[in-house]
Amino acid sequence: MGIDVWLSRTAPDQEQPSVSDPDAIAENIQPEPESIDTWEALQAEVAPCTKCDLCKTRTQTVFGSGNKKAEWMIIGEGPGQNEDLQGLPFVGKAGQLLTEMLRAIGLDREEVFIANIVKCRPPSNRDPKPIEIETCKPYLLRQIALIKPKIIVVLGRVAAQALLNTEEPIGKLRGKIHALNDTPVVVVYHPAYLLRSLLDKRKAWADLKLALQIYKKH
Ligand code: URA
Repeated sequence: MGIDVWLSRTAPDQEQPSVSDPDAIAENIQPEPESIDTWEALQAEVAPCTKCDLCKTRTQTVFGSGNKKAEWMIIGEGPGQNEDLQGLPFVGKAGQLLTEMLRAIGLDREEVFIANIVKCRPPSNRDPKPIEIETCKPYLLRQIALIKPKIIVVLGRVAAQALLNTEEPIGKLRGKIHALNDTPVVVVYHPAYLLRSLLDKRKAWADLKLALQIYKKH
């Protein structure tokens, strides 16, 4: 009738430890093994993910790329068209600018890890919806936990608000040091925005220098 009946796995004639015998109980109770996350497990979950509607329109998930032991983690918003087609983050024009921004503070793309808040391209490059962000964010948090970066640079309003759980505008978020657990987080304008707004490049440069300064202190 749809009711599960749970039966003990102990055979009826198997001797049970007596409740009054603590040694017998200690021998019989094994601690639950702590579940240890791995890149393989995480990648195997992300690749076929269908937890939100973005899976219906994506070509493929974009897991992230770079050094899995990176000291710097760079977090964007979500894949665009090029990223969706290639399965790699920041490969379009914004990606080229990101590479230059990293170079400006002495970093090669290969030595950082680059990921996004959502792993699937939102159709027509719209902002990811709150439900899509909340559904996908645990994957990002697991990536962060595996990498244990010394510093996180988060790109643009959408990614910064999602990562830091805030609705503050980017103008107020940039120029400061935030924290995610114990990891310092610096908010920098998104390279796609900087391609359109040259005036804010100066502020982005100041924020990258701030990130470098914080990194060197840790
Ligand atoms: N913009 C992002 O936020 N992420 C990408 O991967 C590409 C463009």
